[in-house]
Amino acid sequence: MKKAKVGIIGFGTVGTGVASCLIENSSIIKARTGMDLILHKIADLDIERPRGIVLDKNILTTDLNLVLEESDIIVELIGGTTTAKKIILKALQMGKPVVTANKALLAKHGNEIFAAAEKMGTDIYYEASVAGGIPVIKSLREGLAANKIEKIYGILNGTCNYILTQMAQNSQSFEDALKKAQELGYAEAEPSLDIDGFDTAHKIVILASLAYGNWINPNNVYTEGIRNISLSDIKYAKDLGYTIKLFGIAKRMNDDIQVRVHPVMIPNGTIMASINEANNGIFIEGKPIGGTLFYGKGAGMAATSSAVIADIIDIARNLKHSSSRRIPCFTNDKHYGILLPMEEIDSRYYLRINVTDEPGVISKISTILGKEKISISSLIQWETSETSKPVPIVIVTHSTYEKNIMKALKKIQTLSIVHDKINLIRIEDLQ
Ligand code: HSE
Repeated sequence: MKKAKVGIIGFGTVGTGVASCLIENSSIIKARTGMDLILHKIADLDIERPRGIVLDKNILTTDLNLVLEESDIIVELIGGTTTAKKIILKALQMGKPVVTANKALLAKHGNEIFAAAEKMGTDIYYEASVAGGIPVIKSLREGLAANKIEKIYGILNGTCNYILTQMAQNSQSFEDALKKAQELGYAEAEPSLDIDGFDTAHKIVILASLAYGNWINPNNVYTEGIRNISLSDIKYAKDLGYTIKLFGIAKRMNDDIQVRVHPVMIPNGTIMASINEANNGIFIEGKPIGGTLFYGKGAGMAATSSAVIADIIDIARNLKHSSSRRIPCFTNDKHYGILLPMEEIDSRYYLRINVTDEPGVISKISTILGKEKISISSLIQWETSETSKPVPIVIVTHSTYEKNIMKALKKIQTLSIVHDKINLIRIEDLQ
């Protein structure tokens, strides 16, 4: 039986999970690959800390070059975009196939990394970079390869979904829900990557780049997180029949595409609205297939290890049959006009505006909206006994262009009867 030596760089949570599963499921993996996949080396700066896994002493090393030299398959699990990039490029230059879970690195430097793999005739697999254990990359590269992809949207960050679920189901404030997410280990002490939408942006960039055949620069992707979502937005959304989620969205608009990340209000009763806690859900629509839906755990040791080992197995099969690059890591076949700037998208909008409760307020606001050709589809102002305080009014619009709503908001924001920053949430009816 052919053998392949697996070398892991990074012995953190995922590295430990991958090592454990490679050992525990070795007979299944052997049967499915027809190869003996040997856990050969694991490199980390700290090899003393107990990880709850029994390993042969010779496996652990602090010398990552040893891993690169001696292994047949390199698994990069250190994260970050500096050392990880060097390691991956070095491995590829040595002609070694690589597995990575590093979404930030691929989103930023995918072009360069894929070009290096192509030049060396070797593979890079990255299933764990998007939606953890859900095989969405494999689906785009293989299962849906016949399709022209029309749209991809969904919940790609478990931490944000957990926070929004706590707010909606347990009426927790954003701050309390974030604290709980941190206690449970979902959110980092510095939570910006998740809650400001960057992690979702990295993932939608990878999916959109695969779907539309051109590596998309994350700097050109509108990215807004969930910091501004308040409990009152969650309650108004409920009154209006919606749920608030953080979405990554990539879709065609005529010949062009839009790629964006922001909170959305989606209709209750849709499957997406019922995806709660730290789970991910991704909808992909293609021609001819129509809609497909993916659901599951998008993070954590178990789910991520499953995806990393699936990639190791794919590479092992390639090695066995000397068929590297059978599935290119990325196909450069751009089939759209431009990535539209955010002003050009169209949407329905929810606006929460704190106003002085006096005659003529609604008329002032609706006049401005009317001038920008924005039609109101519903309006809420609940009665309150305290007329001296600003009161929230909520306006939902019919579909309009982002540039029109932004122009109107700028004017409304300067009205003396408007207090605080207006909160805007885009509505996706998911039709
Ligand atoms: N922090 C991410 C999440 C997982 O909460 O989904 C890694 O991308």
